[in-house]
Amino acid sequence: MKTRAIRIHQTGGPEVLRWEEVNVGEPGEGQVRLHQSACGLNYIDVYGRSGLYPVGGFPATLGMEGVGTVESVGDGVSSVSNGDRVAYAMKIGAYAEARLIASDQLVKIPQGISDQTAAAMMLKGLTAHYLLFRTYPVRSGDSILVYAAAGGVGLILCQWASLLGATVIGCVGSEDKAELAKANGCDHTILYRDEDIPARVREITDGEGVAAAYDSIGKVTFEASLDSLRPFGVLATYGNASGPVEPFNPGILGPKGSLYVTRPTLATHLATRALLEQGSNRLIELVENKSIKIHVNQTLPLADCAEAHRNLEARNTTGSTVLVI
Ligand SMILES: NC(=O)c1ccc[n+]([C@@H]2O[C@H](COP(=O)([O-])OP(=O)(O)OC[C@H]3O[C@@H](n4cnc5c(N)ncnc54)[C@H](OP(=O)(O)O)[C@@H]3O)[C@@H](O)[C@H]2O)c1
Repeated sequence: MKTRAIRIHQTGGPEVLRWEEVNVGEPGEGQVRLHQSACGLNYIDVYGRSGLYPVGGFPATLGMEGVGTVESVGDGVSSVSNGDRVAYAMKIGAYAEARLIASDQLVKIPQGISDQTAAAMMLKGLTAHYLLFRTYPVRSGDSILVYAAAGGVGLILCQWASLLGATVIGCVGSEDKAELAKANGCDHTILYRDEDIPARVREITDGEGVAAAYDSIGKVTFEASLDSLRPFGVLATYGNASGPVEPFNPGILGPKGSLYVTRPTLATHLATRALLEQGSNRLIELVENKSIKIHVNQTLPLADCAEAHRNLEARNTTGSTVLVI
């Protein structure tokens, strides 16, 4: 079956993203073919395009999160049927009108959640879930530090942490982003392009520091994150928007307060069906009952994916970007 997809034939800047005709075959055992309506843009797509993360050979169809309707089912599939509306995260190949995917990666999306919301919430929402429930289980009364608080993951993470009773300190790149973060669960914001992060954190927490720092910026914020933690605090360095963290000597963690550093990935947290269902059931419930709002603040046609990448890398976006098919 002939359809179209955004593919890359080499790594590089946004210009390597090509809108091309591709052939999607019939689903094999355990697979379905999805007719997609939207896919989410994620920073991991930039890492794949630029070469920071491997994409498994060329040509490659990028994109890790999408929503669509099951249109053909392979042998041995019983969990979904033709016509079901489903979504997924962390399965490369989402920048496409149609795709094949293993049925055990899919979750059904209830009627009350729109296609655009579903496309925006899976990868980012499941990331927020594992960070808050598994990486450092947040307790009511904890203070936490969230970077890119007005971003795709950031807005979900701040809302969810606030529901758990945390005091949320968000790092943001502009006054407008500070307003948005404050309307979505942030109790305090730090304009981290100009302000000294650890000094502001100490001021806000009466000198104590935060229980956990969720750092998606990487290279340029690593030390500031360590210096913002309370004794026994946890640094979850989970992204590289400014580049990967440089090698460091674990010996520095002792004198700073017996700190913990972890580098988690959603892939591990979705490695079994039980893990996927635990996160997605909680996420879907909170989005459906409107406890968490998914902010789809940019929508573009999938064919204009390069422009979406440019905007994301230029720090011009807030909330989620959805590529409409
Ligand atoms: N490990 C995992 O499992 C996992 C899963 C999902 C996402 N992530 C990570 O989470 C982060 C957020 O992803 P997202 O898709 O939701 O993106 P996003 O937060 O919506 O966009 C990235 C934001 O990072 C900030 N930033 C700071 N320095 C930057 C720089 N040098 N270049 C570009 N942006 C910079 C900007 O916000 P300000 O203007 O406010 O600074 C920008 O808007 C990414 O680092 C991603 O890799 C990790």
